Amino acid sequence: AQNRLLIKNGKVVNGDGIQDADVYIEEGIIKQVGNNLIVPGGSRLIDARGKYVIPGGIDTHTHLQLPFMGTTTADDFYTGTRAALAGGTTTIIDFVIPSKGQSLIEAYKQWRERADEKVACDYALHVAVTWWSPEVQQEMEELCRDHGINSFKMFMAYKDLWQLDDTELFEAFERCKQLGAVAQVHAENGDIIKENCKKLLAAGVTGPEGHEMSRPEEVEAEAVNRACVLANQVNCPLYIVHVMSKSAGEVVAEKRRQGIVVYGEPIAASLATDGKHYWNSCWRHAAAHVMGPPLRPDSTTPDYLMDLLANDDLQLTGTDHCTFSSAQKEMGKGDFTKIPNGVNGVEERMSLIWEKGVVSGKMDPTRFVAVTSMNAAKIFNMYPKKGCIAVGSDADIVIWDPKLEHTISAATHHSAVDFNIFEGITCRGGPEYVIANGRVTVDEGQVKAVQGYGSFIPTSPFAPFVYEAVTEREKVHQLIKVEREGRIVAVRNTMVPVV
Ligand code: URP
Ligand code: ZN
Ligand code: ZN
Repeated sequence: AQNRLLIKNGKVVNGDGIQDADVYIEEGIIKQVGNNLIVPGGSRLIDARGKYVIPGGIDTHTHLQLPFMGTTTADDFYTGTRAALAGGTTTIIDFVIPSKGQSLIEAYKQWRERADEKVACDYALHVAVTWWSPEVQQEMEELCRDHGINSFKMFMAYKDLWQLDDTELFEAFERCKQLGAVAQVHAENGDIIKENCKKLLAAGVTGPEGHEMSRPEEVEAEAVNRACVLANQVNCPLYIVHVMSKSAGEVVAEKRRQGIVVYGEPIAASLATDGKHYWNSCWRHAAAHVMGPPLRPDSTTPDYLMDLLANDDLQLTGTDHCTFSSAQKEMGKGDFTKIPNGVNGVEERMSLIWEKGVVSGKMDPTRFVAVTSMNAAKIFNMYPKKGCIAVGSDADIVIWDPKLEHTISAATHHSAVDFNIFEGITCRGGPEYVIANGRVTVDEGQVKAVQGYGSFIPTSPFAPFVYEAVTEREKVHQLIKVEREGRIVAVRNTMVPVV
């Protein structure tokens, strides 16, 4: 019976529609969706009357067990994925971040080792490109071909650590284009940030508010715009991680209106809280909110980003869950540039978006599913294995109770961190049951996570060619020449399948 489950009487919500249907699961896979199902005896029955039956959430952006700024995040792959499950997220996508000069493949293997023994839910990986060389270009191809990677994150900030310059970004985007991989960027101008930090510290600004002051909105918006321009030069689809400000969101929306293929990912933090916290008189409180790009002091930001998300100017959500305890944050007492950057959200994302997106009336439940699960599965090529409730899909399902009411608090959350940036927010709606690969991991609200239960989900790139052909394609550099009256008027990257 453990492996057979019948969910009856619920409203099945996918990203593209709602139906009254029962769902039958066997051995971790959805076997039937419909009415009057005939199922084997001995199946466990869950009555979902009055509830929504939705695909498990996909968090596109986490940092578990990340060594960063002289310490390692408070949540490891177990506590982090347990928190994810508790909140209705059944798949996370974490970032492999190689140190400068480190082999990308070696870093990838490290992440796999750390994650495989601990994850309580399924996970996929993005790989960060933190330095640039011919070897890195080669390894990007190997990661796509042999290791289930189809997305790379480039940093426009963290100067002297992970930042790429414009030439390197141009080449990295071009490489992603060749490979059919998604090019992601952390969009902030790291050169400006470095100069501003020096000035602020010299002027005696040392507290957490200096973090926000050193990187105001336009520093984010400028980088979003520049990333779009660079990516467009090589025809590469672009993905902006952690959209934090109104102006950054506006740039994404405007570029999309112009026809540029760019996706924007606001996070739980930018959708549900603001940067006024940096001025809180309690240092611990203010420091807990330090992350990059920062939360914005303009308190209309979360609502504005939620509007953009509701109308598809922005497409999907993550959390940038990257937790550091109060003691770890204290490393930056007396110098805000040394406060480890990162906030929580993996557990709270679904409930916060339901409360501030659906309960507020901005979006309906189908859009909720699109922005918390389906669009992520599509963009990272996991659909329809993940991101929908359909025959043949993984049985990652949440029974979502719109009547469940829950006030967020560090005292009751599942993350290992000792502070919650959403403390005190009441969410109407939450997970009553969370089913991961057919196993009931949240059962009537009780979390029953199992260390090591989750699996790595390999994702393949969207390239329309076989890898043997890459070298051949590089000879022509994937370029087409546009000629008019016998003269070349444009040279553009293109995507011509090699047969
Ligand atoms: O503050 C943040 N965002 N920490 C994690 C690293 C990153 O840039 O995503
Ligand atoms: Zn980032
Ligand atoms: Zn991040």
